[in-house]
Amino acid sequence: KLTPLVLAGGSGTRFWPRSRKSRAKQVLALSGGTETMIQETVARLLPLAPADDFLVITNGLLVGTIREQLPEIPHSRILCEPMARNTAPACALAAMIVERTAPETILGVFPSDHVVTDDARFQQVIRAAMQIAAAGENIVVLGAPPTRPETGYGYIKQGTVAGEFADLGMTARCVQRFTEKPQIDRAIEFLADGNYAWNAGIFLWSAKTLANAIREHRPAVAGPLETIAAAYGTPEFEAVFAAEYPKVENISIDYAVLEPRSAKGAASNIYCLPADFGWNDLGSWTALHEHAMAKGGVSRGHGNIVECDQALHLEAFGNYVYSPGKTVALLGVSDLVVVETDDAILITTRAHSQEVGRVVSELTKRQ
Ligand code: GDD
Ligand code: MG
Repeated sequence: KLTPLVLAGGSGTRFWPRSRKSRAKQVLALSGGTETMIQETVARLLPLAPADDFLVITNGLLVGTIREQLPEIPHSRILCEPMARNTAPACALAAMIVERTAPETILGVFPSDHVVTDDARFQQVIRAAMQIAAAGENIVVLGAPPTRPETGYGYIKQGTVAGEFADLGMTARCVQRFTEKPQIDRAIEFLADGNYAWNAGIFLWSAKTLANAIREHRPAVAGPLETIAAAYGTPEFEAVFAAEYPKVENISIDYAVLEPRSAKGAASNIYCLPADFGWNDLGSWTALHEHAMAKGGVSRGHGNIVECDQALHLEAFGNYVYSPGKTVALLGVSDLVVVETDDAILITTRAHSQEVGRVVSELTKRQ
């Protein structure tokens, strides 16, 4: 049995001006369709678990929007953190809540802001991962083939073959080492090595295994979370959540559990399956441009993606433009990113699009 935990509390500034504090990436329809990223995430998981079994954890700025966007999920299953504490506390709290009634349930941790192009393959991989997670105190991570020395991801060093899913054409491998967000020189080594995969940010383990991992690796985090989990479903829940959550360390699940546990070597019981379902973290306008090119959706040729009413491009190459309802003419420009909303325009280059966060910090300072 699977309880999908959808993490939706991240703020994300790299999609300014479309994303704002109360309009984070996960509640936007960034990838072209009409569904928002969190709606797509839930839709792709619904064949694996009933809506009543989901848990969604988000923050006060987004909870109203998320409840509207996910009407099939009961309000009691959409939790609102009193403040952001990163992913380890959110994952551990969900594990402790589930553990109280059904400790063997598989908890799958899913980011709400990634794209997947092949939903059917995604479901096959998750079913295989559930089998491994149910077979012991195992952790399953999903690895995507790295294509650049990205320092914003975790890296999974894969070891020996642990099992075959012959009917699915899929191999599970033991994880030798997990390294979260390495420095650039190490990222370059990892890329050249050939045995490393990018961590796709999806984890499966039993509720008991995850809760115990936090108790072992982060005992100070576990204490207040046990108290909050014990109050779940009672009228005091919100008050207890507000009183206890500030005491919890702000740390991601990758640093809190994956890295230290992977250092135990063979005893770590971490296994990797391939994230071979067209995974993309959509971390920037450039990534969105690449994703749209791969999908062949709104492409208007010459590497330009122009989301608008009518596009004209003359000697223009590799641009990304978002300006709904407008006629957009590109003449003699390349590799630009132009994004227009009602109250703001971003004009930058594809090479700079990782740094849009700087614009947001600068604007915040001036407010
Ligand atoms: N509820 C809640 N509370 N959710 C959160 C919080 C929080 O405080 N912080 C982040 N999230 C959500 C985000 O919305 C996102 O869906 C997910 O948790 C992952 O958080 P990110 O902040 O996006 O993590 P990251 O991208 O820096 O790194 C993770 O993902 C990479 C792949 O995209 C790591 O797992 C890396 O190892 C991995 O490679
Ligand atoms: Mg992310």
